[in-house]
Amino acid sequence: MIQTAQPHSSMRTNLAYQRCINPTCAATYDTGELHTSCPKCGYLLDVSYDWDKAAVPDKLSDFEAMWSQRFNPVRFSGVWRFHELLPFAPQERVVTVGEGQTLLQQADAVGKFVGMNAGQLHLQYEGMNPSGSFKDNGMCAAITHANLLGAKRAACASTGNTSASLALYCSATQLMKAIIFIGSGKISYGKLSQALDYGALTVQIAGDFDDAMIRVREIAQRLGIYLVNSVNPFRLEGQKTIMFRVLEALRWETPDWIVVPGGNLGNSSAFGKAFMELKQLGLIDRVPRLAVINASGADTLYELHERRGVRWNGGHVDLDPIREYNDHMDRHGIKADTLASAIEINRPVNLKKCLRALEFCEGVVRQVSDQEILDAKAKVGAGGFGCEPASAASVAGAKLLRREGVIAPSDRVVCVLTGHELKDPTVTVAYHTTDQEVFQKTLGSRGVTKASHANKAIAVPNELDDIIKAIQLYA
Ligand code: F0G
Repeated sequence: MIQTAQPHSSMRTNLAYQRCINPTCAATYDTGELHTSCPKCGYLLDVSYDWDKAAVPDKLSDFEAMWSQRFNPVRFSGVWRFHELLPFAPQERVVTVGEGQTLLQQADAVGKFVGMNAGQLHLQYEGMNPSGSFKDNGMCAAITHANLLGAKRAACASTGNTSASLALYCSATQLMKAIIFIGSGKISYGKLSQALDYGALTVQIAGDFDDAMIRVREIAQRLGIYLVNSVNPFRLEGQKTIMFRVLEALRWETPDWIVVPGGNLGNSSAFGKAFMELKQLGLIDRVPRLAVINASGADTLYELHERRGVRWNGGHVDLDPIREYNDHMDRHGIKADTLASAIEINRPVNLKKCLRALEFCEGVVRQVSDQEILDAKAKVGAGGFGCEPASAASVAGAKLLRREGVIAPSDRVVCVLTGHELKDPTVTVAYHTTDQEVFQKTLGSRGVTKASHANKAIAVPNELDDIIKAIQLYA
């Protein structure tokens, strides 16, 4: 336990509590405590609810009534308008900056690229959140919990988006100070600029994300700082609402597939929990299948789940292959390496929760190359809105699963686009550039050989006739 506070009076209700996900342990803890793992057995914790005591609506469409309450900041929020499905804090204490106003778009051009029938591919644009990524869904929940505990400092390790989100919530609410840990040279400028601009204390350590993650856990514990990485179960509660909004946009119909990039595996874990709870509550009949997509340069989940057969197995995870693979990475100095810097992670902290989600949602894991990611990203961009590289792993993964016949052309598929296009303009510009040197330096040196979907700028002399001629030639 790294922090205990006098629980706020309305937290004393045992409607919500924390529970170890290890079924043979299943220890429970008050929501007034912060743990980053179970003190008894070391597994991750869930936030659990005694649903009989909660005011859960009879059907999901009852949440539509919340749309008419948009003047209330709690119901304006795309997270807290589903408060009844994550009731760990009283409504009057929730923190919101207006997160979750995101969009599910039917994307036929991208669907064609993936190999889907018209009307069947949907993109969930989480880059439309205030800090430009899905992280805000979870951050508002973590900051709500931190504030209930009276925390004055909050920390995270990050590949960029968690830190941008934490920095934004701390500066916008002035509730606490943000301290962020980033690996050296591993963060895109879009994300770094946010943390700096929003005033976070930014600690750049020599090492990568996995190194920073180990360090921040140690330091948060030592200094009693509230940790907001996705080992924090409250954050994942907020991320469940991405799936609630997907269902809402599909008029409460369950899609066949949810496809999501996998990094630290918080999102996939949260999605699995969302569907487990909706099923348990009788709010859905059918559960979608889950596809988690790794970058091939950061493919621990793929290696363990698909190659070494590691399964949740009702909570009895075989830990030996995990240890062996970690040792193998240590022995050979294997570090995560992908242009999709947001998911450049080899030691995903939510591995076991993600295995649980994969079991419940009959999930699959795939890996896609940086080339496939960037080609898919260009297709998403050409369809409007755009996304950052890591997000496009979902589209590249859907294409691969279509090719394999795992996804049928008639399936209804939702790819989650986790981050905004402008998070990483360096990679985007390098893909579309006409300058071979720029291409080579940024992409070629990392194994990307071509830019088949590039939209190249045309160079024209500054002469009226030449400009007109060029426009007539191309448009
Ligand atoms: N996509 C984006 C844009 C991300 O920023 C991340 C994670 C992921 C996907 C992977 O999600 O960790 O839930 O599997 N970014 C973290 C960060 C690690 O520090 O911003 P996950």
